[in-house]
Formats: sequence, C-alpha cells, structure tokens
Amino acid sequence: MPDPRFEVWRARADAALAAALPDPDASPQRLHAAMRHAVLLGGKRMRPLLVYASGAVFETDDAVLDAPATAIELIHAYSLVHDDLPAMDDDALRRGQPTVHVAFDEATAILAGDALQSLAFQVLAGTRVPDGARVALLRTLALASGAGGMCGGQALDLAATGNGATVSIDELERLHMMKTGVLIRAAVRMGGLSGAADSAAMKSLDRYASALGLAFQIRDDILDIEGDSSTLGKTAGKDVAQAKATFPALIGMDASRARLHELSEAMNDALAPVGERADALRALGRLAVERDR
Ligand code: IPE
Ligand code: IPE
Ligand code: MG
Ligand code: MG
Ligand code: MG
Repeated sequence: MPDPRFEVWRARADAALAAALPDPDASPQRLHAAMRHAVLLGGKRMRPLLVYASGAVFETDDAVLDAPATAIELIHAYSLVHDDLPAMDDDALRRGQPTVHVAFDEATAILAGDALQSLAFQVLAGTRVPDGARVALLRTLALASGAGGMCGGQALDLAATGNGATVSIDELERLHMMKTGVLIRAAVRMGGLSGAADSAAMKSLDRYASALGLAFQIRDDILDIEGDSSTLGKTAGKDVAQAKATFPALIGMDASRARLHELSEAMNDALAPVGERADALRALGRLAVERDR
C-alpha cells in the first residue's frame, strides 16, 4: 500500500511545475512548448517526493517545500532532455512520448534544457525560507547539478560508452553516484534545509540518500535489461546496444540484485534512529528498488 501522501505531493509538484513554466501562448512559443513537453508529460516525480518526504521528517509545511521540489524536478527534466540528445544517448522515447529533440528539433531541445536549468534556480531563489537557508538551498542544487555532480557523472558515462565493461566497479559506483546519486541526495538534503532539521537526523537522512541514489541507478540499469519499453516509457535494451557502463554489464544480474538488497538494508539501518517520522522516506526507498518503471 503506497503512502497516501504520495498522491497529494505529486499533485502539488505537478501544479507548482505547471505554474512555474512559461506561458505556452507567449513568445517564443516553440521554446516554451518544448519546456512544457519535457516537464509536464509524465515522470514519477521521485525527486519532488523525496523533498516533501524529507521535509515531513521535520514537520515542515508542504507550501515551503513546493519551491525546492519544483526546482529539483526542473533540473532533472533538463538532464533528461540533454541525456536523450543524439550527441549523448540518442533516444527517441521518454516518459511514453517522443523525446524533445524528436518532437521539436535539436537546437530547441538544447535551449529548452538550458532554460529549464535557469528556471530551476529562479524558482529556488523564491523559496519562503530565511536568507541563510535560501543560500544553502541554492548552493546544494548548484553543486549537485554541476561538474562535481550530474554533469560530471554524465561526462564519465559518455567516456565509458562503447567500452562500459572495462571500467572498474569503484569507477562505476563513482559514475553512478555522480550522474544520479548526487541529485537524489540533494533532494533529501533540500527537504531538511527548508525547515528546522537537527544535525543528527540530517546525518541519518544523508546516509539513507547515498544508498538510495546508487540503488536508484542500479534499478534503472536492471530495468533497461528486464523491462519493456511500453512500461518504462523509454526504449529498453539501449545500454547493452551502446555498451554502457552498468551494474549488470560489470557484475551480472544476480550480483546487481544482491547489491540492491544490501542497499535497501543500508537505507533502513540509516533511518532506524529517525523512527516513524521517516516512514515516507522508507516507502520511497522501497519504491526505488521495487519499481518496474
Ligand atoms: C531516469 O530518472 C534517469 C535516471 C537518473 C536513472 P527517473 O526514473 O526518475 O525518470 P522519470 O522522472 O520518472 O521520467
Ligand atoms: C541518466 O542515466 C542520468 C541522467 C539523466 C543524469 P540514463 O541514461 O541511464 O537514464 P535513462 O535510462 O536514459 O533514463
Ligand atoms: Mg545516459
Ligand atoms: Mg539515457
Ligand atoms: Mg538508464
């Protein structure tokens, strides 16, 4: 039984995203349409859910969490638009729709990604928290998105594409942590930074989020092999075809599943001291490792 708060939080995130995106009728319409296509047509909203669930640990008002939840999903959506470009993974299907460069064109997809990234920081700058917390939120998202986080991880991913099985397991963990894990960690951290988080609980949440970030990408790697495109909403089987660096390619399916199981236990251990306040985070951890899309 999924936590009933998830539907409430998804609806909040969807409404806040739609309100933040530029008017489809205003010029330049094509850019605005591409941005809205990238963000509004599906997606599990995992990162916004993590912001709300982490905020819930400290009883932070959902209204205060709307801006960080929106900002992190805008960064994620931008990362997907660029990830799908011909120069990167060259994918035609995303969230059950044609990718942005297919539905529009490559230049528009590049610009839509750029503009989504800028919009993320604009939205976050408007968060209703004291100035010190606002700066910490902006810094957290900037660090997680840039060369030391998502962009850096994408660079490592591309460098390993075509010879994915030759990287070491330590290199692969670093790659996965950077391209996916760091943004997931930032989502959890931003939930805490938005309210009255105590440092002991923040440490527990950070340990949880590190395990979750890696687990999320391992599950993504497994689904690329055992999932089907219509459930996934993206083309299955691409990682093997492009000789990507993935957990199954490096250690096989059974060991990848075993690693997921270990990471689930690490998530539960990390959250144990936080008690029931972390139930929504626990449920999101389970969702991340059990999901089929
Ligand atoms: C896909 O992320 C890319 C990865 C970082 C693994 P999601 O699986 O969260 O994609 P959406 O947002 O639900 O489309
Ligand atoms: C994408 O990893 C990670 C980021 C977008 C930062 P993948 O390339 O495995 O994601 P999918 O499988 O295309 O969603
Ligand atoms: Mg990729
Ligand atoms: Mg990809
Ligand atoms: Mg993938």
